[in-house]
Amino acid sequence: MQIKKAGVALLGLGVVGGGTYQILRDKREMIMRNDGVDIQVVSVLERNADRVRELGIDGALVAGGIDEIINNPKVDIVAEFFGGVEPAKTFLIKALLAGKSIVTANKEMFSKCWSELEQAAKQGGGGLYFEASCVGGVPVIRAITDSMQANRVLSLKGIVNGTTNYILTKMSDEGADYATCLKEAQKLGYAEADPTADVEGYDATYKNSILSSLAYRRRVPVDRIYREGIKDVDVKDIAYGKELGYTLKLLAVSKLRDGKIEARVHPAFLPDSHPLSFVKGSFNALFLQGDSVDDVMFYGRGAGALPTGSAIVSDIVFAARQCEHRRFDFETDGEPAEFTEDFSSEYYLRFDVKSDCGTLEKVAGAMRKNNVSLKSVLQKSEDTLVFVTHEVKESVVRKAIGEAEQLSGVDRVAAIIRIEE
Ligand code: HSE
Repeated sequence: MQIKKAGVALLGLGVVGGGTYQILRDKREMIMRNDGVDIQVVSVLERNADRVRELGIDGALVAGGIDEIINNPKVDIVAEFFGGVEPAKTFLIKALLAGKSIVTANKEMFSKCWSELEQAAKQGGGGLYFEASCVGGVPVIRAITDSMQANRVLSLKGIVNGTTNYILTKMSDEGADYATCLKEAQKLGYAEADPTADVEGYDATYKNSILSSLAYRRRVPVDRIYREGIKDVDVKDIAYGKELGYTLKLLAVSKLRDGKIEARVHPAFLPDSHPLSFVKGSFNALFLQGDSVDDVMFYGRGAGALPTGSAIVSDIVFAARQCEHRRFDFETDGEPAEFTEDFSSEYYLRFDVKSDCGTLEKVAGAMRKNNVSLKSVLQKSEDTLVFVTHEVKESVVRKAIGEAEQLSGVDRVAAIIRIEE
């Protein structure tokens, strides 16, 4: 086999950058043997000299700035590990315009700037590789792009954020409240000191945007995705859900219905028997439905130095082997996406009520009046009512809830949780 050489620059040597370096160093021979490419780290951009030493990287490889990397003819592929939109976006656009291919795990930057990156790639001739941006080490991007060609993807459901899955699993298994579980997650390094991006669902929304765009081959922008985080999840609802046979997860959901896309991120109940209900702790999974293959599920680690480094290295090898890079020019190639704002679902509703008799009947009446069909009704305590609806449009159930809240005897709707089948 003729061995092709490829030079890589690593921008940032944090957790994943370091893991990537380690894999490239330790598996160089194996990759050469198996894939016919000799991948060599020829440049790094890292201010922390201790980190460079700790990884055993030759100080001569440390670049003085991005322009030195862009102008280095030995660099074919630039892998970025900064996170956040800037300076990652500017650096990667420069790299693409200079004809390099780029590899990134940066879901925020990629989901928000994909079109611009695509333009720059087209101009420079390099490729865009982003396997590590969604579900970490689990090869979901290439599975959608390279193994689902026989399918129209009908729906996608994913547990794509490990931090929130860790917190919800702990709340469910131990009955502890959200604040206690978040603190524990922070202590163990699963959650950041500022957990906003994870717990408010932004991270899952970026990933949903990338995955749904690929699945439906139309751009699904971040701002078209409905988003709710887990901050307001009450452990009481997890317990009541359990009694009904449901498990609570933060889900990234998208569906193609009648040619329209609905995309959302929010806590959702799944039947205990659904394969995603078994995904515990910081693990991730993606469940896809294709019209030929039917249901498929991918499971594994969504974060971490070596799991994410595994996806990055796979992209580097893939980029190095390509003669012609794949383009995702949804704006010009596909029909523009149409979106459904008013999606349908089954709902779990918990009402705080005054402990007088007849309130259950009155709330059920408000539901009936609005054609919200009820699947189960539970009086959990004197002042707590739980309703489970059949599938209904969000606008309809919201109207019924609004009317129920006006009833004497009803204090408020304390929880609205969608149920996915
Ligand atoms: N904060 C992310 C998570 C890291 O918890 O899943 C991986 O994208």
